[in-house]
Amino acid sequence: MSVISILGGRGMLGSDLAELAGSAGHEVLIFDMPAFDITKAADVQEAISKADIIVNCAAYTAVDKAETEREACRSVNALAAGSLAKSAGELGKYLIHISTDFVFGDDSDRKLSEEDKPDPLGWYGATKLEGEQLVASSGCRHAIVRIEWTYGRNGVNFISKLLDAAGKSSKLKVVGDQHGSPTWTADVAMALLCLIGKRAEGLYHFSAEGCASRYEVAKFILSEKRISKELSSCASSDFPAPAKRPMNSRFDCSKIDRILNFKRPGWQESMAKYLK
Ligand SMILES: NC(=O)c1ccc[n+]([C@@H]2O[C@H](COP(=O)([O-])OP(=O)(O)OC[C@H]3O[C@@H](n4cnc5c(N)ncnc54)[C@H](OP(=O)(O)O)[C@@H]3O)[C@@H](O)[C@H]2O)c1
Repeated sequence: MSVISILGGRGMLGSDLAELAGSAGHEVLIFDMPAFDITKAADVQEAISKADIIVNCAAYTAVDKAETEREACRSVNALAAGSLAKSAGELGKYLIHISTDFVFGDDSDRKLSEEDKPDPLGWYGATKLEGEQLVASSGCRHAIVRIEWTYGRNGVNFISKLLDAAGKSSKLKVVGDQHGSPTWTADVAMALLCLIGKRAEGLYHFSAEGCASRYEVAKFILSEKRISKELSSCASSDFPAPAKRPMNSRFDCSKIDRILNFKRPGWQESMAKYLK
């Protein structure tokens, strides 16, 4: 069993990972704002030196605000990730760094693999890509795991926003032109524990099995919760936002499938469990 420092350990993914890693017998150390700031070298040094393994879930995740708060976003998602990896490498630690489908700007309907060329549409995605590149070139033993469309207990996400909107309005409009795989952070946590167990290195895509549009996901959620609302599909252009979203977030997960000791659940299976 290992000592694992989880940076951003009280966020949506970090909190599920902390719980699972703890119940699997690892010693878990949680680092998060405001006591811990990943942009401060002394904070990072403390978090790294206490652990065998570091999982970086800390991120600036306000996708739209990032377009105006450019430096704040870049300092967390890119520069701090790079410095963290450099320091972890100097101390011989193993690092898992979490990244995102927002590094892509694809609008096809094929599954994107680790070999596909990133092309971020907005600043958040651009800084996450720069963070990946800095981690990859740091010399640290590492894995980078891209995840997408995540939901979990400790965070605002697509499900919480939809249920909130359903409580306020009888008519709901959800975009039908963005496709991806809604993924439970508890499932991501299981995958991360597998990577940790094998000290797997390299770049990986992880999502639930199967894909859907946001509209189809909303339909599923309302049906599972037995909420009756008038739901219609619209285009992304009907919801103008400062940051553009990728149309295609379908992941090819065959690389990580060779490492996992479980079969990735279908998105409906995990979401039904979560909603219960
Ligand atoms: N949510 C998604 O749909 C999604 C999709 C793909 C990839 N990801 C990636 O998944 C990872 C985990 O994200 P999440 O969904 O769990 O987001 P989250 O709930 O926002 O968690 C991120 C955590 O990082 C903390 N943080 C922010 N700035 C920090 C700083 N300077 N120093 C230390 N901690 C800081 C946040 O604290 P505060 O809350 O106080 O700011 C929060 O606890 C991120 O790398 C994200 O890019 C997320």
